Amino acid sequence: MNAPLRTPAYLKFAGPDLDEAAIAAVGDVMRSGQLTSGPWVKAFEQALSRFFGGRPVRVVTSATAAIEIALAIAGVGPGDEVITPTQTFFTAMNMIVRRGATPVFVDCDLVTRNLDIAAVEAAITPRTRAILPTYWPGSLPDLDALYALARRRGLRVVEDAALVMGSRWQGRNLGASGDIATFSFHPNKNMTSIEGGAIVVNDDAEAARVDALRFHGIRALADRTRDVAEAGGKFNLPDVNARIGVAQLARLPEFLARRRALVDRYGARFPRDLGAVLPPTPAGDDGHSWNMWSVLLPLDRLTLDRRAFRDALDAQGIGSGVSYEASHLTTLGRALGGRDGQFPVSERIARETLTLPLHTRMADADVDRVCEACDALLRGHRR
Ligand SMILES: Cc1ncc(COP(=O)(O)O)c(C=O)c1O
Repeated sequence: MNAPLRTPAYLKFAGPDLDEAAIAAVGDVMRSGQLTSGPWVKAFEQALSRFFGGRPVRVVTSATAAIEIALAIAGVGPGDEVITPTQTFFTAMNMIVRRGATPVFVDCDLVTRNLDIAAVEAAITPRTRAILPTYWPGSLPDLDALYALARRRGLRVVEDAALVMGSRWQGRNLGASGDIATFSFHPNKNMTSIEGGAIVVNDDAEAARVDALRFHGIRALADRTRDVAEAGGKFNLPDVNARIGVAQLARLPEFLARRRALVDRYGARFPRDLGAVLPPTPAGDDGHSWNMWSVLLPLDRLTLDRRAFRDALDAQGIGSGVSYEASHLTTLGRALGGRDGQFPVSERIARETLTLPLHTRMADADVDRVCEACDALLRGHRR
């Protein structure tokens, strides 16, 4: 039943790890007749709240929905600016624009991809309302410095932690401290609820606001009618998804350990003498989670472009991804004022990055096969 993720023919670059118990549990939920948000959503939120140090947690249909709601709670609206890295998935830019606000992009570090905190400070204007950092597998920015800056300048922080469920900061799960944190449970992430996301907030008042914003803006009245004070969306998670999420959260430590072992193997086997830039090397269980393993290809030394490199991997049954393009150079980003050369590090990452297969159902031999294929391509197509 699990075969399509890893057949001899094709190794996907990402994917979920659902066991038969979770699949059977979904059948139980479906037979219960309670399909949309119900007891399993509550159970998932309670388990996540324990995971995040007792903070209030709400689940929604995606991290994208979580970020849109988080920006509303942070008070972001028309005329505001939100500082965010350009080297991230399109969600940050899109959700800031959908709030009627303006994304103000900053550059990042070449290896860790952490946003540049000095650049964040330099980008603050009287219109800045919030900072929306993306956290990357294998590293975290100096969150003490980031939060000290936010406090000093009176800014909210909405953390895009979509990629790093299970990473730790100063010994505690990421999300257990800080302002608003958002996580993704898309099938390519560290754990899944098929689609889904979580939002960790500061208090019950913010949680009640999420309750309304994820479900039509509805608040219950004492006379058993309903009121809408603020336009909400329809982002509530079905119980079927929440049931999977509960099962997956219990397996998260196992998933994280397997991902780290695979990354250790990549670090040991991937050719280091051919000019590729590799991700940070883990130091045992150093608190970082590994959702992806992306290298920068030395394209200026190769006769292949990235497209041809990926096609050649595909031909050998090896999937790959691009994580990510530069937001400011998308058509939307350019319409907002983005120009070539504005953020050189992020633009270089966007040109050269290649995400190689990493998921818990890979065998060690799969890593070896990917490394050998990359070695042959890098060595065989040198300029
Ligand atoms: C950094 C980052 N943020 C947000 C998202 C959006 O997650 P979702 O698909 O759950 O909306 C993604 C998805 O890939 C992501 O990579």
